[in-house]
Amino acid sequence: MLEYRKIVGCAAVMIEPLDNFEQIARLHTTSWRRWYRGIYSDAYLDGGLAEDHRKKWRERVARFDNDNELLVGVRKDQRLIGFTYVTLRTDLTRGALVDNLHVDPDHHGQGIGRELMARAAEWAVSKELPMQLEVFAANQAAVDFYMRLRGEKIDEFVETLVDGSRSVTLVFQWRNPGVVLS
Ligand SMILES: CC(C)(COP(=O)(O)OP(=O)(O)OC[C@H]1O[C@@H](n2cnc3c(N)ncnc32)[C@H](O)[C@@H]1OP(=O)(O)O)[C@@H](O)C(=O)NCCC(=O)NCCS
Repeated sequence: MLEYRKIVGCAAVMIEPLDNFEQIARLHTTSWRRWYRGIYSDAYLDGGLAEDHRKKWRERVARFDNDNELLVGVRKDQRLIGFTYVTLRTDLTRGALVDNLHVDPDHHGQGIGRELMARAAEWAVSKELPMQLEVFAANQAAVDFYMRLRGEKIDEFVETLVDGSRSVTLVFQWRNPGVVLS
């Protein structure tokens, strides 16, 4: 994916492939600390999370495979304000997996999430695959966002998270990811 400038909402932003794992990990951690209170324990969010994210993104970026992974960011005035990561390194029965989607809390509601989902959908279409993701049922804002983007809830299950917390997780699918682009 090539870098390009775009107007999203009323701001000029850069859409670009990412490789700076520290920046991604920082935004990922900021977003979890803000939105995942009550899903993960405070002890984990304020403790081991930051280092877990640094490790995850250092490894992902180091072994990044362009054919099977997409890692796209939105940058405004040099600052990373959103990113998504999509992978084919999973069971593809339900499609390409949007494993992460985060927009900086100060920039919600400006079209950044839709823009990132559009890039994910475009990539899934290019791979001739449906698209899927998992979202915590308690994360109502994200659930509503995915429904707005015409995702279909196809499954739900209870999972035990890394800190031992229990969560109901929903699976959303876009059988034709092209609907996100329309
Ligand atoms: C979910 C998230 C990515 C949405 O990003 P965003 O940039 O705020 O969303 P957008 O401004 O692009 O909104 C796109 C559309 O969804 C709608 N939408 C966004 N949030 C919504 C909500 N809470 N309820 C209903 N609709 C919503 C918008 O109205 C907009 O509709 P439109 O384009 O038809 O006018 C963002 O809120 C976020 O980062 N949340 C925290 C992290 C997270 O939960 N990630 C998902 C993990 S599974």
